[in-house]
Amino acid sequence: MINIDLIELLERAKAAAANAYAPYSGYKVGSAVLSSEGSIFTGCNVENASYSLTICAERNAIFNAVASGQKSFLALAVYVDSTRNFPPCGACRQVMSEFAPSLKVIFGNRNEVVETTLAELLPGAFSLHDA
Ligand code: THU
Repeated sequence: MINIDLIELLERAKAAAANAYAPYSGYKVGSAVLSSEGSIFTGCNVENASYSLTICAERNAIFNAVASGQKSFLALAVYVDSTRNFPPCGACRQVMSEFAPSLKVIFGNRNEVVETTLAELLPGAFSLHDA
């Protein structure tokens, strides 16, 4: 059984946020995802002068994990270096749902931490997997 330490995961997300490339929005976001095998993968947001090419921290963390062979996840953390709250965007919620419908989610900023689940964040998710 894998121990899920959400606060440690949030610390890893915070460390990843330091590497964010966010010259346009100014919001440096980091994410860390815990695989079912117990490994942690991180990502940060990477913006672009052609704004729509920007990718969120959460998707970078998940894609990083998939590129290393992990396709099942227990928990995901998001940290933004701000006083604004950053719950995961809709696109990232859908990507989480692809790999981890019962994911635990923690998000935090300089002042506040919120623990929730993907089921709460994305009820009625679209899927092509058989139920
Ligand atoms: N962003 C994330 O990294 N994750 C989210 O869930 C929401 C938004 C990034 C995208 C962009 O670089 C900046 O935050 C402002 O939208």
